[in-house]
Amino acid sequence: MYPLIRNRRLRASESIRRLVRETVVTPDDFLVPLFVVEGKGIKEEIPSMPNYYRLSLDNLEKETKELWKMGLCAVLLFVKVPDNLKDNKGTEALNEEGLMQRAIKTVKNACPDMLVMTDVALDPYSSYGHDGIVADGQILNDETSEVLAEMSVSHAQAGADFVAPSDMMDGRILIIREALEDEGFQHTGIMSYSAKYASAFYGPFRDALDSAPVDIANVPKDKKSYQMDFANRFEAIRETQMDIDEGADIVMVKPGLCYLDIVREIKNEVDVPVAVYQVSGEYAMLKAAAEKGWLDHDAVMMEQLIAIKRAGANIIASYFAKDFIRVIG
Ligand code: PBG
Repeated sequence: MYPLIRNRRLRASESIRRLVRETVVTPDDFLVPLFVVEGKGIKEEIPSMPNYYRLSLDNLEKETKELWKMGLCAVLLFVKVPDNLKDNKGTEALNEEGLMQRAIKTVKNACPDMLVMTDVALDPYSSYGHDGIVADGQILNDETSEVLAEMSVSHAQAGADFVAPSDMMDGRILIIREALEDEGFQHTGIMSYSAKYASAFYGPFRDALDSAPVDIANVPKDKKSYQMDFANRFEAIRETQMDIDEGADIVMVKPGLCYLDIVREIKNEVDVPVAVYQVSGEYAMLKAAAEKGWLDHDAVMMEQLIAIKRAGANIIASYFAKDFIRVIG
C-alpha cells in the first residue's frame, strides 16, 4: 500500500496544475515605470535597458493609450532633467511648468482613468545626483523633506493620484502627508519606498536619467547614508512600520528578486498593500542573458514575476509589463 499520498497526482496534467495553482499574475498587478524627456518625437532606447525608451511628451501620450489598451492601469513617472536646470536644492522640481508636471497632465489628458504615480526625490534634479540637498559632505534630512513635501504638492496639483517618495529621508512621509492635507489634497495617496536598499542594481536606471552621484570632493559617492544596508532585515520592518504610522497608503520593497525574503516578512507584518520594484538591473540581466541565448527570456520572466507575487507583492513595478502582456496574449 505504499505510498498512500502521491503529490504528483496534483501535477499530472496542465489542467490539474491550473486548478490547484496558488499564484497568478495579472495585468492588474503592474505599475509601469516610464522615462520622460524634453523634446518632440523622441523615443530613444536606453543602452543598458534594451527595448526600453525615454519618451518625449507626444510619445508619452501614445504610450499611455497603448498601455491602457493592453489592460495596464497604472504608471510611475520619472523625468530626465537637462543639466542646465539642475542645482543642489532641486529647484526645478517645484516648477509648475516643469517636465514632470507636464508629463502628469499629458497622461491624464490621454487617459483620465490611468492611475498616475510620480517619483519624488531630488536626484534627477540634483547637480550632485543625490536624492537630497548636500552640505558639508552630508545629505541634509529635514531640509530635503521640506522640498519633497513641496514637490509632492506640486505633483498633486498637476493631477498625480499618488506620490512615491523614493529618497529614504527620515520622517518625510509625515511631512508630505501634512503638506498634502494642508493644501487640500486629502485624496492624493502616498506609496512610500519604505525598504529601499543601497543597491548596485540601480545602475541602468541612473544611465536612463543621467542621475548617478557625481565624483566631486566632499560629495558622497554613494547613497549608503540614506538608502538601507542590504545586510539588514529587522531594519526593513522598522522602516516600513514607521512609514505606515506616518501615513503611507502603500509600502514598497526595492529591489525585487534578491529581496523576496524581506517582501514576505513585511507582508506577514503589515496590512497595507505591499509593492515590489523589480529594478532596472534585474531587467538588464535577463535581457542580456537572453540576447546571448543563455536563458529563455519569456519563461524566466514569468518565473520571476510569479516569484515576486508569491513572496507577497500586491503591486509589481516592472519594466517587463508589456512583455508580460505579450506572453499572456
Ligand atoms: C530615485 C530612484 C532610483 C530608482 C527609482 N527611483 C534610483 C536611485 O535611488 O538611485 C531605481 C529604479 C531602478 O533601478 O529601476 N531615487
